Amino acid sequence: MNLITFVFLILVSASAYQPIWYEDIALDRHNIYRRMHDYADLEYSDTLGALALMCAKYYSKIHKIDHSCIYKFLHGENLAFFGRNTGAPEALDSLVDAIDGWYAESYDYDYEQPQSSTSAEIYHFTQMIWNSTFQMGFGIFRNYTSKRTYVVALYEPKGNILIRPPDSFKWFRGNVTAPVMSFQNQDYDMY
Ligand SMILES: *[C@@H]1O[C@H](CO)[C@@H](O)[C@H](O)[C@H]1NC(C)=O
Ligand SMILES: *[C@@H]1O[C@H](CO)[C@@H](O)[C@H](O)[C@H]1NC(C)=O
Ligand SMILES: *[C@@H]1O[C@H](CO)[C@@H](O)[C@H](O)[C@H]1NC(C)=O
Repeated sequence: MNLITFVFLILVSASAYQPIWYEDIALDRHNIYRRMHDYADLEYSDTLGALALMCAKYYSKIHKIDHSCIYKFLHGENLAFFGRNTGAPEALDSLVDAIDGWYAESYDYDYEQPQSSTSAEIYHFTQMIWNSTFQMGFGIFRNYTSKRTYVVALYEPKGNILIRPPDSFKWFRGNVTAPVMSFQNQDYDMY
């Protein structure tokens, strides 16, 4: 490699907003959890990823996460933000923490009677696991002014679908069943 190429590579990597492998980490982390429930792996969608990044930038601008991003269209959406903004390791922490935080909602979830869990935040968890969902995209954006990192996951097709009463949570029971193995039992490389 000659010197010119070397300098060019340094400049490119120094100006990149995010590590190029964050999509893989986000996807693997989702699939670790889905496998615990015996559900198929999600596949990564670059289209959803591009929309998720647009949404992460949008929430960064408005300084809140209120699900108002129009770029998500009809896809499912999970959001988080963190008060950290520096460097790749912190961005990595933020995305793993976001996904683990969403999954941690499962401890408040009643698989037999989902309707009894709705006073707690459970819908991030149920969207991650939702059996009929098969694609995801992920965006993460660090705002160096507000010192916040915004994390957006988009899902297709959207989960968390309530149906007409009286059994509004029927599809929740059908798409979010109890885990059949624990996190520790997985043969998986952890990041
Ligand atoms: C960073 O956050 C501030 C709000 O604190 C916002 O005004 C600004 O537009 C954001 N910058 C970007 C690039 O999103
Ligand atoms: C999940 O959905 C697939 C079809 O997409 C189905 O074959 C499978 O039985 C479902 N899993 C459970 C546990 O319901
Ligand atoms: C799972 O949810 C989908 C909609 O996302 C629905 O069509 C399907 O019937 C549900 N499956 C079960 C077993 O409830």
